[in-house]
Amino acid sequence: MKKITLNREQIFQGNLLLVNEHNPLQHTVPSEQIRPLERPAVQPAASGSPSGRQPVCMERKAALVLETLLAAIGSGSALVSVSGFRSHTEQEAIYHSSLAEHGADFTRSYVALPGCSEHETGLAIDLALNQEPIDFLCPCFPKDGICGRFREKAAAYGFIERYQEGKETLTGIAPEPWHFRYVGIPHASVMAFHNFCLEEYLDYLTSFPYEGKHLEIRVENKAFELFYVEAETDITEITLPGYLPFQVSGDNQKGFIFTLWR
Ligand code: DAL
Ligand code: ZN
Repeated sequence: MKKITLNREQIFQGNLLLVNEHNPLQHTVPSEQIRPLERPAVQPAASGSPSGRQPVCMERKAALVLETLLAAIGSGSALVSVSGFRSHTEQEAIYHSSLAEHGADFTRSYVALPGCSEHETGLAIDLALNQEPIDFLCPCFPKDGICGRFREKAAAYGFIERYQEGKETLTGIAPEPWHFRYVGIPHASVMAFHNFCLEEYLDYLTSFPYEGKHLEIRVENKAFELFYVEAETDITEITLPGYLPFQVSGDNQKGFIFTLWR
């Protein structure tokens, strides 16, 4: 057995952070965790982009997985990344330029409040078909063709379509078929299976506490065990079987989600 010690600050780190208007991001992502995307090679000078042509960056693991997924579907230069990691200052600039250009209703629907954007985590990416004009805030990412192939494979690589139709009251954001969020393979698979948005999924996971029945799932030939731990005031300690690889993520709310590879 091995003892795992978590401090409260770890609630605010990991792939499963819930970032929305009720759950602002608590930390700036360290710059060494962010890197430019290598693929797709073509970068658009997207219309509406406040900063014009510049590299699109993501959190390192999310970037690697996205590149692998784009290669697996043979996207070549058919898809482009429009917006990935945004600093808090960039999100502020986007928010205020959207307010000035499109007004409050549009901005509330399509641009998260500064501090409440998944783009500030580096785990989100907006993708577009590589055809001009490319709109920076609402890029074209249809249901069919290469975009449909991306969608079909996304969960198997750990990405979810974050803002789906019908979930607006939970996410606080209008449908955004171009915005994908990295959460990791087992989590994306369960979410796709149940058609959960991230708000629903994290709530669902709290019904699998450390002390109770865990969520056991199989994705392709791999078995995973998932469970939730509510954080103690200061230090949280739990014991795991010593031989199992595991990952832990905070939920940016009250606790931690454990992922064990069985
Ligand atoms: N467009 C998404 C909601 C954002 O601004 O983070
Ligand atoms: Zn986005």
